[in-house]
Amino acid sequence: MKRPAKRSAVAPPAALPAVDLRVRIGPLELANPVVTASGTFGYGDEYAHLMDVAALGAVITKTVTVKPRAGNAPQRIAETPSGMLNSIGLENVGLERFQAQKLPTLRALGATIIASLGGETPHELEHLLGALGGEPGVGGFEINFSCPNVAKGGTRYWAVPRRLERTLRRLRPLTQAALIAKLPPEMALLPDLARACEAGGADALTAVNTFVGMSVDLSHMRFRIGRGTGGLSGPAIKPLALACCAEAVRSVTIPVMGSGGIMNATDALEFIAVGATAVQVGTLSFIRPRGALEVLDGLVAPLAARGVRRLADWRGCMLRAEPAQPAAAGPSSSPRKTARAARAASAARLQRKA
Ligand SMILES: Cc1cc2nc3c(=O)[nH]c(=O)nc-3n(C[C@H](O)[C@H](O)[C@H](O)COP(=O)(O)O)c2cc1C
Repeated sequence: MKRPAKRSAVAPPAALPAVDLRVRIGPLELANPVVTASGTFGYGDEYAHLMDVAALGAVITKTVTVKPRAGNAPQRIAETPSGMLNSIGLENVGLERFQAQKLPTLRALGATIIASLGGETPHELEHLLGALGGEPGVGGFEINFSCPNVAKGGTRYWAVPRRLERTLRRLRPLTQAALIAKLPPEMALLPDLARACEAGGADALTAVNTFVGMSVDLSHMRFRIGRGTGGLSGPAIKPLALACCAEAVRSVTIPVMGSGGIMNATDALEFIAVGATAVQVGTLSFIRPRGALEVLDGLVAPLAARGVRRLADWRGCMLRAEPAQPAAAGPSSSPRKTARAARAASAARLQRKA
C-alpha cells in the first residue's frame, strides 16, 4: 500500500486520537518534524527505491560546495563504542551537477527539500545561494558552519559570532526560503553563536553537528581515521547533543532543529521536549535506511497516550519551568522572555496531565 505523500496528522493504533505533527521553520511548514541529517542520506534520490522520501518532514541534502570535492583520503569511517567517526571531508558533486541533476530528481520525488550549503568564505556561500536561492521546490537552505573535517571553511573558521552574523546578513536577501544555520557542538560558544545567527537573519538553527573525536588502533599503531580526528555521531553523542540543543533553544527565539544520536522516536521526543522544533536523523540511516520513517511512525502513540493532540504542545515541556514574571506578557517583555513564559506554561500543563 502506498503511503500518503505528506504525513502531518497520523492516527495512532488502538483508536487513540490523531496528533497534529506540523511544524514551522521560518517560512517553511513541514508536514512533520522528522528530517534526514545532511551527509547521511545522500541527495535523497539514493533512498527512493527503499521508501517514499516525500513522507518525511524534509530531506536535507549532502552539503554542496561551489566546486565538486573528492573528500578526504581514507580511512574516512570508523566504528566506535555506540557511535561512528567520519572524516568524509565534504565530498560532493558541486553546484553545477547538484543544480542540473540532483535537485530535479529529488524535486520529482515530491520531497520537501532543504539544501545544505558549505563554503570556505562568505563569498562562496553568497555564490551558492545566489545560484540556488530562487530554485523552485527548495524550501530551505541549511548553511553548514560546523564541518569538523575540512582544512578550510570548517568549524574553526566559522565559530566567530561576528563572522556568522555578517555572513548571514549577506545571505539573507538572496532567498525567501528558510535560512538555517548549522552550529558546532561547542557548549561554551553556543549561546553567542546562536544569537549571532539570529541577529544575522537566520530563520532557524540546527544544533548540533558532530563532535571532534579520535580513535587509536594500537595493534597496528595507527589512527583509525586517516586524518587523525573525525566527527563523532550516533548514540554516543546523544546526551551531549541534547544539552547543546537545549542551550541553543534557551539562547534564541527562532526554531532549533535537534541533531545528534537520534535513533528512535523516544530520542526524538526528548529533543522536542527540550525545545527542538524538528529533529534530524543521521547515523541511524546507515544502520536502517528506513530509520527516519520509523522515528516518524513512533512519534504519535506516546503523544496520543499522554493526551497531546498537537506536537507544538509537547515542545519545550522539559525545559525547567521558570516562574513567569508578571511583566513577561507585558509590552516591555523581550521575545526571549515571552518564549520562556510560553514554554513554562506548556510544561505546567503537561505536568498536570502526567
Ligand atoms: C558520514 C557522515 C557525513 C556527514 N556529512 C555532513 C555534511 O555533509 N554536512 C553536514 O552539515 N553534516 C554532516 N554530517 C553530520 C550529520 O548531519 C549530523 O549532524 C551528525 O551526524 C549528528 O547526528 P547523528 O548522530 O544522528 O548522526 C555527517 C555525518 C556523518 C555520520
